[in-house]
Amino acid sequence: MTTTRPDHETLRGAIALAGRAPSVHNTQPWRFLIGEHSVHLMADRTRALPATDPDGRDLLISCGAALHHLRTALAALGWSSEVHRIPNPADPDHLAALEPHRHTPSDEDIALAAAIAHRRTDRRSFSSWPVPPGHLDLMIRRAAELGALLIPVTTGRLRTHLADAISQAASTQQADPAYTAELAAWTGRGRLADDGVPATSALARPAFHGDTRMRDFPNGTLIESAEDTAESDAGELLVLATPDDDPMSWLRAGEAASAALLTAADLDLASCPLSQALEVADIRALVEELVLDNDAVPHLILRVGWAHPAAGPLPQSPRRPVNEVIDFLPGTAHRSNDR
Ligand SMILES: Cc1cc2nc3c(=O)[nH]c(=O)nc-3n(C[C@H](O)[C@H](O)[C@H](O)COP(=O)(O)O)c2cc1C
Repeated sequence: MTTTRPDHETLRGAIALAGRAPSVHNTQPWRFLIGEHSVHLMADRTRALPATDPDGRDLLISCGAALHHLRTALAALGWSSEVHRIPNPADPDHLAALEPHRHTPSDEDIALAAAIAHRRTDRRSFSSWPVPPGHLDLMIRRAAELGALLIPVTTGRLRTHLADAISQAASTQQADPAYTAELAAWTGRGRLADDGVPATSALARPAFHGDTRMRDFPNGTLIESAEDTAESDAGELLVLATPDDDPMSWLRAGEAASAALLTAADLDLASCPLSQALEVADIRALVEELVLDNDAVPHLILRVGWAHPAAGPLPQSPRRPVNEVIDFLPGTAHRSNDR
């Protein structure tokens, strides 16, 4: 018999994969509600970062990434999703309602879903091998399909402006005790923690890779070889932007970030989102003016490149158990082992 909606085990599996989405400081600021015919994505503001992300831009980008991960996982499992974004004006934290429909997975669906398991945020230096333009083009195309511009800022004056903005924002944030306290609270929470940035994924020393200053997480233990850091770093910077600056745009930027990062992972590229320059309002305005010529609003920077050939695999960062992020809407029939 052909079923018209995924069973709860399928949904639970897809939501577990959605939970692998990148999120700012690994806060995982989302919840999923399962209804009879739909799955709902909710923002979880109890996991917000008021000092780092006062507007909640990063929070909604993170939720957008989870939304795209969920669609990708469902697509590979044979379900396309009709998505209604921010469907209830009275509840701005109700970010999306997804209605699954049977479909035949494409090769792209399967490849992107497979990339979920091996994508990592890689904060190490990258090798001197250039990223092929065709690889960047594919990331740009997939981001565009989700309504966002992904703009490579490769060389010259614009690249200098962007790298300067990242560095300046890092200095501004480091001077803010509320920011450093928040960062410390979300970093190196210990082996049993199921959220936050683990020490093993954070660099042991503050680092510039080429012109690019990395976020300085405290108490990191990730060490690079002197040989690797001596090589010039050919990491590309791409700015993710949309025409407007509102929660819908932030959500879409997150979906596009997910598409670009999974595409990079599928191409074996290493990647790292960078958001500091866009968390500080004045500096975000500078990036908008000097790098984007006021044509679009920047939401996130993606750094991509080739990992050094001898660099070891990175550990997976932790996630909350799927049961903690799932609820059932009242009246939704579910078997007892679905909980
Ligand atoms: C909106 C957003 C902003 C982020 N900003 C940064 C950043 O500035 N620096 C950084 O090293 N990682 C950044 N990250 C990556 C997260 O720290 C990372 O996704 C999280 O720790 C989970 O690790 P994983 O991506 O390896 O699964 C960001 C991720 C998102 C979604």
